[in-house]
Amino acid sequence: MQNIDKFDFQQIPAPLLSWYRENKRELPWREEPTPYRVWVSEIMLQQTRVEAVKEYYVRFMNALPSVEALAFCEEEKLLKLWEGLGYYTRVRNLQKAAKQILQFYGGEFPKTMEQLRALSGIGSYTAGAIASIAYGMPVAAVDGNVFRVASRLEENPAPISDPKYRRYLEESLSAVYPKPGKDCSDFTQSLFELGALICKPQNPACAVCPLAKLCRANQKGTQSRFPVLPQKKTKRQEKIFIFLIETPQGFCIRRREEGLLKGMNEFPSRVVFDGETVEEILNEWGVYEFNEVKRGKFAHIFTHVRWDIDCVWVRADSAPFDAYSLAEIKETISLPTAFKQCLAILEKGYGKEKI
Ligand code: ADE
Repeated sequence: MQNIDKFDFQQIPAPLLSWYRENKRELPWREEPTPYRVWVSEIMLQQTRVEAVKEYYVRFMNALPSVEALAFCEEEKLLKLWEGLGYYTRVRNLQKAAKQILQFYGGEFPKTMEQLRALSGIGSYTAGAIASIAYGMPVAAVDGNVFRVASRLEENPAPISDPKYRRYLEESLSAVYPKPGKDCSDFTQSLFELGALICKPQNPACAVCPLAKLCRANQKGTQSRFPVLPQKKTKRQEKIFIFLIETPQGFCIRRREEGLLKGMNEFPSRVVFDGETVEEILNEWGVYEFNEVKRGKFAHIFTHVRWDIDCVWVRADSAPFDAYSLAEIKETISLPTAFKQCLAILEKGYGKEKI
């Protein structure tokens, strides 16, 4: 990491804490910040916006109010509770860690940073968030919001993907935490809150920022240059057929055996590499007699891949995979968003069919 004129982070807790107490949002995970509740919220918030998380969070907590309930939850129910949030490794790790807490700590949430970090899916950020918010420990939790606030305060040109920069910020911020207790919990959340409400990626509201006077980027007008983000990789583009195979028994669903979304349910699909046709693919699955009802095209973007989807609805007399009624699919079967969107094609299509 480049040498820079180090910012005195000691100046920020006092103004941030008073600002936070006046301006914080009421969010469901802020009521009763037990380690379990904080943990689940932080995992949900890792790739998803606060507004989108709220409803999922309340539903998840009602269904699975404790570590034990999470550890023993049936997989399909768990995936259904997560349906639409994406990045399903997160919820699989949540359950793995819940089982570890039962096995190694008799169900009681571990209390040290080291123990927290040893759980599946918990890195330094999540461990810091649980330790500071739930236990009032003086440890920082550096997420994208915190990188943005801190990199602007000191005009730090290090890319946020640099692990040395992360460690430097974790240490610099942890060193200025208030004394153990509620202030530590509030200080962590005040950094998130400032990043979300004031120090926004675009058009930061510097005129009303409690740290404006201290902020080098604000003084020099360089806010848009910080934080320095890693270069975006171009996405791999794939053409994929998704088949809505309607049979007298219902629509076919199967489990994805490998690759992207491994272990998730899907309407049978096939990434097309060398021009295979709908007919060839269906024949390969043993479906020789079918009528095509309708097609719909749309795209779905993942972190590293873009799917150009051709959703093909066909009717066949026999089912090459397990089949379920539409009601069952909607109510009890979890489907990743790319597949869920195919249901819209069905719903629009009924009544306007070609055959
Ligand atoms: N972003 C990440 N963690 C958060 C939290 N606990 N509250 C609000 N926004 C967040």
